[in-house]
Amino acid sequence: DGRWLCQYKGFWCPVRCFRPIVSSERHFDARDTDILLASMPKSGTTWLKALVFSIINRNNYSIDQTPLLTSNPHALVPFLEFNVYWGNDNPDLDTIPNPRIFSTHMPYELLPNTILESKCRAVYICRNPLDQFISHRHFLIENKIEKDAEPLDIDEAFEMFCKGIHPFGPFWDHMMGYWHSSLNNSRKVLFLKYEDLKEDIVFSVKKIAEFIGFHLSEEEEKQGLIEQISRLCSFENLKNLEVNKLGKNRVIQNSSYFRKGEVGDWTNYLSPSMAERIEELMQMKLRGSGAISQANVILSTS
Ligand code: A3P
Repeated sequence: DGRWLCQYKGFWCPVRCFRPIVSSERHFDARDTDILLASMPKSGTTWLKALVFSIINRNNYSIDQTPLLTSNPHALVPFLEFNVYWGNDNPDLDTIPNPRIFSTHMPYELLPNTILESKCRAVYICRNPLDQFISHRHFLIENKIEKDAEPLDIDEAFEMFCKGIHPFGPFWDHMMGYWHSSLNNSRKVLFLKYEDLKEDIVFSVKKIAEFIGFHLSEEEEKQGLIEQISRLCSFENLKNLEVNKLGKNRVIQNSSYFRKGEVGDWTNYLSPSMAERIEELMQMKLRGSGAISQANVILSTS
């Protein structure tokens, strides 16, 4: 059921995000030093927020005193589109010191012009579409986010997903927008995969730090800082913090951002033929874009 989604410039946006998206498109004033964390929902946004916050603030707080121990990562790194919308409740964007970090689910094509024109950088995290679909389904049901819409049964929801009707979908278009921009301008967009972070977090932390201009020195590496940051931001650590077990923002339980944190959980819910269908769909959508190998890499966990 797509009632709680509206199509805007080819993408399916949750109705409640429509005004914030348009508002940020029109009014957001990017700075060259801004860092944007972009993703489809349920692709590792929370993890990326924790990592980037920790990398940037490593000289401001020690690992045992970081605000991450007492705040959900979403409170420390607000969503650009919601921040603009919530306006008065949130800090004045102009008063936030550099480097400002925001996250967004907006497709690349819908990003405010000032983001595209400035030198600010974006880190995109992508996840296997089948795991993303399952993770999103749990999140939706657990939080009863869309009050008027009864969750569809899994086959119907999957059908919608295959038609591209999914928050911020179509999945393939969202992914391709950032993928192409990372190819065209590797200084503007860093394209990451959830699965790669799971496989080698130390390498990923170094890569992220380098990209956002917060290179980790040899000295810091020797001190084991990368491992410390990785452990601090690990699923097990964040999930078990009091704030993430019990805390809540206005609509969402913090705990629902930490479910299983695994690669391949889709196999517990979707049939091999459903997986095949997505694989074929992705191949078809990406054909001619020169990104087939990328699709294969993304689907390689399937
Ligand atoms: P699952 O539902 O598959 O467990 P987002 O942060 O974009 O909303 O994505 C949420 C997904 O990332 C959930 O996936 C969640 O468990 C997982 N996740 C959250 N924090 C994580 C972390 N530190 N490491 C790995 N996965 C994490």
